[in-house]
Amino acid sequence: MTATKPPSRPSVGPTELYKTLPPAFGHDALALFGFNPNYVNLNHGSYGSLALPVRAFCDELTDEVESNPDKFIRIDCIHYWNRVRERVAKLIGVETDECVIVNNTSHGLATVLRNFIFKEGDILVGATTTYGSVYQTLKYIADIPPHPILSTFNLQFPTSRAKIIQDFEEHIKQLTETSDATGARKIVALIDSIASHPGAFLPWREMVAICRKAGVISVIDGAHSIGQEADLNLSEIRPDFWVSNCHKWLFSKRGSAILYVPKRNQHFIKSSIPTPVTYHSPHDSDYQGPQEFVKLFEWTGTIDYVPQLSIGAAMDFREWLGGEHKINAYTHALAIAGGKRLAERLGTDVMDPTGEFTLSMVNVELPLSGDVESTDEVLQIFTHTLILQWQTSAAAFKHNGKWWVRCSTQIWNEISDFDVLANALKDASPIHLHALSSMNSLNDHSFGCSSDNGRHQT
Ligand SMILES: Cc1ncc(COP(=O)(O)O)c(C=O)c1O
Repeated sequence: MTATKPPSRPSVGPTELYKTLPPAFGHDALALFGFNPNYVNLNHGSYGSLALPVRAFCDELTDEVESNPDKFIRIDCIHYWNRVRERVAKLIGVETDECVIVNNTSHGLATVLRNFIFKEGDILVGATTTYGSVYQTLKYIADIPPHPILSTFNLQFPTSRAKIIQDFEEHIKQLTETSDATGARKIVALIDSIASHPGAFLPWREMVAICRKAGVISVIDGAHSIGQEADLNLSEIRPDFWVSNCHKWLFSKRGSAILYVPKRNQHFIKSSIPTPVTYHSPHDSDYQGPQEFVKLFEWTGTIDYVPQLSIGAAMDFREWLGGEHKINAYTHALAIAGGKRLAERLGTDVMDPTGEFTLSMVNVELPLSGDVESTDEVLQIFTHTLILQWQTSAAAFKHNGKWWVRCSTQIWNEISDFDVLANALKDASPIHLHALSSMNSLNDHSFGCSSDNGRHQT
């Protein structure tokens, strides 16, 4: 393993730090994060990474909260919260009162999906690449009365953006053309902007346009969007609902996410989850209409608000680094170059040779037979070998009959990190196969709980 000399960490808080020039991207930028000096992190996409200046903001804010919880919660918190909404709204090109802050993408999507009032015959559309728990949410909603039908769009890589658009249009056409006995059938399509496994930037803007034309409601899982996908102008793209984690690619503290609901759709959201005390029930004697969208989300039970409020500090940090385009240009170029390097080292291929699906995550085939079933046990062996033995991390998964690894590139990574990962993966693959064959010989059916889409991982 290549030993990386740890760069010296900033000894000053954000205010002083931001008067200085930021470090060059690459290993010098490790000084801005709290990683163990031996850790080679190529898995930022799973859980995000908290930048030290953002952490310093969180620590200061925690001091302020704890110095007088009543004052903070009853008086000050809402001003911070509204300021964050204002800033994020500008970044994604929408009105402030169309954005609220939620704990994470799962929470935001569950809130949207569970606010629809379905009728028998309504349809939910997911995809084979939909994130595991989100797909389970669709299944759960289909499992409970009035049992909307779940229709799954088959998305297999390698493919092309043009083919996805064409197939999706056809899928939607087939759904809208089938007869609708109830009259006004609702179709809700859950679309990833950037899928998790594989890590792939999907043509979601075109898919939203297809939905709009067909009268289908689009709900966008943008868990990986803010901070990875620049030039988000949601007012122009016009998704019906959109959620993005900020603790992944924007560098805020875990968990923090933005839920965007344009004014035209706010009437769908009757309640946040959990329901707040400010909810208006039509059965209230003084009912004068539903509660305002933003007010529903201001207090949904006691939480630590610091992660949500760190979104503004994360934006300050990114501005100091040079802004969204500079950050994304570096991480994208490294994803392309690093993917090539890893594929060469492993003697395999990248999933997306043209780069059309690649922003800052790249998928490389693993030197494993596709006959090896995807199982929790196998993934555990992989994860443990990388994390515990090699102090590195990237997400292994099985897709379309082959094994792959997804690498996330960040401002602290350099091409040599892919060499560390290559060594670790080469080490893990035989262990994995050996373990698998001995387990298989013990019990032929021990891998029956397999999933082919990496749904157990983030
Ligand atoms: C595409 C996608 N959707 C949803 C999620 C869920 O995010 P969270 O666990 O922060 O709710 C993830 C997490 O990695 C994801 O990759």
